[in-house]
Amino acid sequence: MSNFHDKVIYQAYPKSFKDTNGNGVGDLNGVREKLAYLEDLGVDMLWLNPFYKSPQNDNGYDVADYKSIDPMFGDWDDLDALIREAKAHGIDLMLDMVLNHTSTDHEWFQKALAGDKKYQDFYILRDLQEDGSLPTNWESKFGGKAWSKFGDTDKYYLHLYDVTQADLNWRNPEVREELYKVVNFWLEKGVKGFRFDVINVIGKDEQLKDAEDGVGKSHYTDTPIVHDFIQELNKETFGPYGDIVTVGEMSSTTVENGIKYSNPDREELSMIFSFHHLKVDYKDGEKWTLQPFDFIELKRILNEWQEGMVEGGGWNALFWNNHDQPRANSRFGDVVNYPFETSTMLAQTIHLLRGTPYIYQGEEIGMTNPGFEELDQYVDIETHNAYREMKEKGLSHDEAMEIIQFKSRDNSRTPMQWNDSKHAGFTEGTPWLQVADNHTTINVESRGDSTRIRDYYKQLIKLRKSMPIIQEGAYEMLELEHPSIFAYVREQDGEKLLVLSHFYGEEATFTVPDNLLELEASYLIGNGKERSLDKSFQMGPYETVAFLLK
Ligand code: GLC
Repeated sequence: MSNFHDKVIYQAYPKSFKDTNGNGVGDLNGVREKLAYLEDLGVDMLWLNPFYKSPQNDNGYDVADYKSIDPMFGDWDDLDALIREAKAHGIDLMLDMVLNHTSTDHEWFQKALAGDKKYQDFYILRDLQEDGSLPTNWESKFGGKAWSKFGDTDKYYLHLYDVTQADLNWRNPEVREELYKVVNFWLEKGVKGFRFDVINVIGKDEQLKDAEDGVGKSHYTDTPIVHDFIQELNKETFGPYGDIVTVGEMSSTTVENGIKYSNPDREELSMIFSFHHLKVDYKDGEKWTLQPFDFIELKRILNEWQEGMVEGGGWNALFWNNHDQPRANSRFGDVVNYPFETSTMLAQTIHLLRGTPYIYQGEEIGMTNPGFEELDQYVDIETHNAYREMKEKGLSHDEAMEIIQFKSRDNSRTPMQWNDSKHAGFTEGTPWLQVADNHTTINVESRGDSTRIRDYYKQLIKLRKSMPIIQEGAYEMLELEHPSIFAYVREQDGEKLLVLSHFYGEEATFTVPDNLLELEASYLIGNGKERSLDKSFQMGPYETVAFLLK
């Protein structure tokens, strides 16, 4: 069995986790301080978002020096102590590697700007087209065009994200060699896992051309050469270690590619994050819109990825939340009337699937979107770009703000709510991003729903560790068309695990298939009263339940 199928990974967003020096920004010592909390939760690995030197235009995903620690997060002693102490708590570190692009403050880009040809070939520089238009018509994922002028030359550089995030030229072997040195540097420090940021867009087409759709994704996403690059990355860095857990963040990928990235025989990555299930509330594929989520589509997508990865021997990362997503409980449930049921139902739905669950900080206590109403309460660059674009499209300020309240990435980036004091026990200073008002009730120390939700997560984590059927069992969806219940069966060695989750606030009934009723059912876990299984199974609002069948 693989070394990660029984593991659960926790994501801490260092900027917002715990500040120990009063500068309003979370730090490595803050993470150290909370290791006992994480051990108590039961997680095995801790993914930390970037804490390297960075101008912070994209909160650290604009890396200015890969082998450094930004002083606002701490120093080398803090990091060494964190790695050591985490180990003592049974937790390994997973670091975020942003290898698709560097900050334009990075030494390589600066040297390139100063005219150094070697470093100019580290980036993707092109001339304007003959008619004076940009090298290609591609769009930046953060709004606007994907090309900006390269200093005072006639050339333009590619940036699929912010203008201060210049895409690296992976076709240049020297670039790859430098990046492998970075990964090896962190491996030598004792890091046991990596999350590779937007790794499926590193292999741009050799000839860059205008895209028919005017967006350009197909010219750089999941191209065949990406797999070659990842195989080489594996071989040159973490592969030989044998015990390193890796996850690739895959922008707009397909099941077919997901299998390639994560099937162990191909020696690429341990698993991948795909995002299709988190786009089921986008109108016409557009993020900055409002629309109730499409439940059947949500099930269809999760089902497709479960089935596809089983068939192709791939492995899914299972998640609802991360630092780029609004809070799932504010999105797929009712946090006003059923905060406990919503949070635990969502958790159970994915924790009992086949894959590796990720918990994003605060999820385990039921943290929600903060509901900020003013534009200046938001810090995120993508949010501000989106505001501008929505206004340009003719939306009013209020309309744009309503969308931002539901869609901004800052919804998940607000400081961790440790207690009910001012700034939620996150900082003694002024937090870089405001704390959500509801920290007075939703916090780690509260004896209310937050504690109950956390206890539920602990149970789910324990179940995964103790039950091979959860780790390795086969998977089958039941009644895809059921309008409100998500039902699936896991199976191993003649045993079955039936999981039923109700995604809505009314009562609903699930008709249990006869072949399951013939087996003896024992109640395993649920967020309501203990139940017994019967043919016409009634479910309460946001109820979730699992039975073991023998
Ligand atoms: C990933 C990160 C996101 C960042 C982007 C560009 O999607 O998760 O936070 O903005 O890559 O690096």
